Amino acid sequence: MASTRVLNEKYDLLMQQLARSVENTMEQYLLQDSAVPEKLREAMLYSLRAGGKRLRPIMVIFACQACGGRPDDALPAAAAVEMVHTYSLIHDDLPALDDDDFRRGRPSSHKAFGEGVAILAGDALLTYAFHVLTLHVPRADLARQLVMELSAAAGPAGMIGGQIEDLLANNAPGTLEMVDYIHTHKTAMLLRAAARMGGLCARADPRQLEILGDYGLKVGQAFQITDDLLDITATPQQMGKPTQKDHKAGKLTYPAVAGVEQSNRQVQKLIEQALDDLAELQTPAEPLRHLARMIIKRRN
Ligand code: IPE
Ligand code: IPE
Ligand code: MG
Ligand code: MG
Ligand code: MG
Repeated sequence: MASTRVLNEKYDLLMQQLARSVENTMEQYLLQDSAVPEKLREAMLYSLRAGGKRLRPIMVIFACQACGGRPDDALPAAAAVEMVHTYSLIHDDLPALDDDDFRRGRPSSHKAFGEGVAILAGDALLTYAFHVLTLHVPRADLARQLVMELSAAAGPAGMIGGQIEDLLANNAPGTLEMVDYIHTHKTAMLLRAAARMGGLCARADPRQLEILGDYGLKVGQAFQITDDLLDITATPQQMGKPTQKDHKAGKLTYPAVAGVEQSNRQVQKLIEQALDDLAELQTPAEPLRHLARMIIKRRN
């Protein structure tokens, strides 16, 4: 349908513009800081500049707009979320974890700089994200809320909790419950935080934050299932990272436990639920809807 195509093109363009603006923001923050040693800055920028879909920072901005805020209000939070995500990829690729040599279409950080520098570049991006929130969010109460949200989602009860279960589940028989735990924690909680942080930047009320959080969590769960599916069906060129590795590495994935058909159905179901969640928001949330629908169709 021509109108759907036109709308999709409109959103693609908008998302590209927002991605550039997040990239410029992250880069400006880092370049302004003359106290960062050159090698570290180089490694941090290498991974930040490598591209990537920028799904999480775009979700922060769309959630902010859905609650009446302006994109600029959400930029420090969007940059912080993308820094945490980028750090998580650098560490996830290390030989001690997934041992992947390619990321975002180029050699992984440890391939380009060596393991020591890659570990430190990850450490630096993680800490810098919180520095950004405290330095660049003008209101102290908002900065505190954002720090709470992001640290809880990225920390031991969130993303790292998921990463350790992912690690320990290698080559062990798994259940759907275990996969759900892993997906929810290693991936979906950061997307939940992204949506809620956008809301916080627009001074959303508690009910709006709850709706945004539910939406982000379901989109995140669907996103990780599609990541597992694309590991089976997509090429490394398409993904910018190695594929067909999860099975060989003994990873506990959704398709490994439930099969491809059921995984596709689960993605569909989660996205429908995420769209239902938004219906209650009573604000213009079309960009967030578009983002959710994109997950089903994504090819990279
Ligand atoms: C990769 O995330 C890690 C997962 C949680 C599956 P993305 O697919 O969003 O990676 P980039 O940011 O686009 O490179
Ligand atoms: C990554 O999950 C989750 C985090 C980095 C927190 P995966 O290991 O499946 O992500 P990819 O496939 O390497 O991008
Ligand atoms: Mg991993
Ligand atoms: Mg990995
Ligand atoms: Mg994967």
